[in-house]
Amino acid sequence: MIRFEHVNKTYGSKTIFNDFNVELPKGKFIVLIGPSGCGKTTMLKMINRLIEPDNGAVYVDGKDISKVDSIQLRRSIGYVIQHIGLFPNMTIAQNISVVPKLLKFDKSRCEQIVHELLELVDMPYSEFAHKYPTQLSGGQQQRIGVLRALAASPPIVLMDEPFGALDPMTRMTLQDEVKSLQERLQKTIVFVTHDMDEALALGDIIVFMDSGKIVQMASPEEMLRNPANSMIREFMGKRSDDNESAPQSASDVMQRNVIKVFRNCGLSEAVNKMKHYNIDTLIVVNNDMTYAGTVSIKSIMHAKQTRGIESLIYNEHQVVYVDEDAQSCFDALLSSSESYLVVLNRNNNVAGILTRTSVAKALAQIVWRDDNG
Ligand SMILES: Nc1ncnc2c1ncn2[C@@H]1O[C@H](COP(=O)(O)OP(=O)(O)OP(=O)(O)O)[C@@H](O)[C@H]1O
Ligand SMILES: [Mg+2]
Repeated sequence: MIRFEHVNKTYGSKTIFNDFNVELPKGKFIVLIGPSGCGKTTMLKMINRLIEPDNGAVYVDGKDISKVDSIQLRRSIGYVIQHIGLFPNMTIAQNISVVPKLLKFDKSRCEQIVHELLELVDMPYSEFAHKYPTQLSGGQQQRIGVLRALAASPPIVLMDEPFGALDPMTRMTLQDEVKSLQERLQKTIVFVTHDMDEALALGDIIVFMDSGKIVQMASPEEMLRNPANSMIREFMGKRSDDNESAPQSASDVMQRNVIKVFRNCGLSEAVNKMKHYNIDTLIVVNNDMTYAGTVSIKSIMHAKQTRGIESLIYNEHQVVYVDEDAQSCFDALLSSSESYLVVLNRNNNVAGILTRTSVAKALAQIVWRDDNG
């Protein structure tokens, strides 16, 4: 567990944190999000003492970290920054084993770590271990940056907008990888992003910050359902002025966090996602993020091949567009044999899905708005 107690931090006359308190639970995927300059990076760096608070204290597992040797501390906390900073004159294997070597792990153990980690992200050792960073794509380098942070198996990993510079496809793949690594290894991950979709996809807990204060700390579902203020609502892409009127268009009544896979996704990956999210179909997207169709668990069970989902994509699922009239979309849903409709933006990217529950929620919000203020 990571705990900030009465933390103050100022730069010159500018107060960044004033009596800041928070408790981040152990073993969870925690996402920090908020406008630029609100203090996300500063908060992250106070956890590994790259920045020290002026007053107050930060505790990790009950220990005041100002009393722990900072070098020792940093070796026990993985850190991934946006511009990944692999050492250009070291091979991938050498990059990954930097911290294990500092910790004086022996050579065969370092080798084993490199093997295992590369396997985790589907980059074969024989092909990649002896390459140099410039011989890898941006996404591959970013993966290695993540692996390097995990190499000494630290219980805590801090990630500061690690995927900010990547194209959407690589980004989505790495999000999945990091999420599943976290689930398998039960690390505490503190992950900074600007992107609410990323926060919703990854976080067990989302911490929304503004001007050095926590505006809301909640599960993705709770934040979607009950955003604490209009800034959070805006981050979620909802119009901030739509809260008094009845739903107008599909975008007012749809569910936004849908589980997507790329069309070249493997069968087992698709099944794992369905299991994990407890759903029986997935939305499939093309490499340019446009909508391709859906894939169901049934079709996977009956598949006569074991390659990927490509040949199982169902492209006749009923579709509506975000700006279509809410009422007629709802009528279409009720008269449809499908349990949900796919909602697309006009550029054919997936905006969300329309389910009976999502419509009911949107309507309930209007009916009960007076009660929760
Ligand atoms: N070394 C410094 N000297 C002076 N001011 C600083 C310094 N580092 C950060 N700040 C200020 O502290 C505030 C918080 O910065 P921080 O980097 O934590 O923001 P952030 O939430 O990570 O923003 P972004 O989303 O843009 O990365 C900003 O107003 C920034 O200008
Ligand atoms: Mg920052």
